[in-house]
Amino acid sequence: MKKFRYLLISYISIFILFPLIRLINKKFYDKNILPQVINSSCNSKPIDYQRKKIIPQAKGLVLEIGIGPGSNLKHYEQNNVKKIIGVDPSSELNKIAIKRAEKHNLTVEFLIESADNLSVPDNSIDTVVSTYALCSIPNPSMTLKEIHRVLKPTGRFIFSEHGLAPDTSVSFIQNGIDFFYPKIAGGCHVNRDIESLLTQNSFKIEKLENIYLPGTQKFLGYNSWGSVSI
Ligand SMILES: C[S@@+](CC[C@H](N)C(=O)[O-])C[C@H]1O[C@@H](n2cnc3c(N)ncnc32)[C@H](O)[C@@H]1O
Repeated sequence: MKKFRYLLISYISIFILFPLIRLINKKFYDKNILPQVINSSCNSKPIDYQRKKIIPQAKGLVLEIGIGPGSNLKHYEQNNVKKIIGVDPSSELNKIAIKRAEKHNLTVEFLIESADNLSVPDNSIDTVVSTYALCSIPNPSMTLKEIHRVLKPTGRFIFSEHGLAPDTSVSFIQNGIDFFYPKIAGGCHVNRDIESLLTQNSFKIEKLENIYLPGTQKFLGYNSWGSVSI
């Protein structure tokens, strides 16, 4: 019953409430509602479970792209991480991330910039992290090229992302809503093929697993996670 109520509320919000508010006042929606939508939708239990699977693997100098509200910060192993460089163009989300960073004993430098044009030197990063960001970055291929450039030859890119589902009944919906969904969800495209993006951009897959996240609408919850090297 609780699950049904949650799914009903989220369908009404996604398909009626949010588009309506954004239509009436885009500036208000983008400044006041969107950061809260991103912060709360990215902090569901299944997503937090995914974070715990990958974030503790980060070590050395870490670059987190699309760090947003800093939801991963609590999962880093303090003893393994020298410093985290958090990249995100959203200054609204950065305010939430700064507060979270203060709570944890981590050295975090925030760069308010786009991940497809990083001010980070070549071959300098031990671990690049991306969680639920490749869906929202306007140019994911350019971003992956940048990740390739900044990773040390021994470095790893670890990720947990949602994207295009293999089932046609789900991908039909994902492709069908792409004309409006990014507008209410901070540019999030639910129909990006994560594995293809990685292999097309010359990453070598070390580990890749896929599931539909439990308690999540299938069109939002086809999750791919793992690690790749250059
Ligand atoms: C769905 S949120 C995920 C946030 C965070 N990674 C997490 O796991 O909760 C997508 C994030 O991608 C960020 N983003 C959008 N365009 C970007 C870009 N060009 N470069 C870097 N991050 C970007 C957004 O600001 C937002 O913080």
